[in-house]
Amino acid sequence: MNILVYKNSEQIAKAAAAIFAAQTLEKPDSVLGLATGSTPINTYLQLIDLYKAGVLDFSKVKTFNLDEYVGLDKSHNQSYYSFMYENLFNHINISEENVHILNGIADDLDEECENYEQLIENAGGIDLQILGVGNNGHIAFNEPSDSFAQSTHIVTLKDSTIQANKRFFNNADEVPKQALTMGIGTIMKSSKIVLIAESQSKAQAISDMVNGNITPQLPASILKLHSNVTVILDEAAASLL
Ligand code: GLP
Repeated sequence: MNILVYKNSEQIAKAAAAIFAAQTLEKPDSVLGLATGSTPINTYLQLIDLYKAGVLDFSKVKTFNLDEYVGLDKSHNQSYYSFMYENLFNHINISEENVHILNGIADDLDEECENYEQLIENAGGIDLQILGVGNNGHIAFNEPSDSFAQSTHIVTLKDSTIQANKRFFNNADEVPKQALTMGIGTIMKSSKIVLIAESQSKAQAISDMVNGNITPQLPASILKLHSNVTVILDEAAASLL
């Protein structure tokens, strides 16, 4: 793992955006794996600035998001679909047909997951995947468990995740209890991975990921087996390393 530590969120965002910029300049039809959560928002702002400055062109880029809540229509203001349009897609020249986000209200959720895997494969796989990390070490919505899930699947969210994400809803009861998520196998098949973590709340998970054993109880620990991972941290998230 290549670990970079920066002073603040803006520097982190610039470093992460530089990796995305290099990827899309090198391969204009890149397949990008995208994440939600508070952490990547500043990186998306940097990408928007680079687009507005004429440096980046997203017209041929394809995107696949990591996950989506089960039961939220895409028009719901806390759906990851809404998040992506608000924080990135509405501000760049990406074509709607190149955007892929799991449908959390599909009639057949298993079929939705299988189709998603197929779509990623048909696109040639993910060139560059951005990841955040949960306080409990989850990546996408792959929660701590007894085994690593291979492909896109339905998950039941841990209470710690519901508590962490309730800040976006009126209360914890409104947070969906299930989600659809790329599997660990899906993520590990990406050619390059960038994981970003900020703040003290991530320090333990980052320390366990870097220094601990590879275990499905800390899903992010599997990333040590990937050959091209860049971890970008602020000093607080790196404080236990
Ligand atoms: C959610 C998402 C994850 C994300 C995590 C951390 O659970 N499913 O992909 O990494 O939140 O979010 P934040 O960046 O807000 O701390």
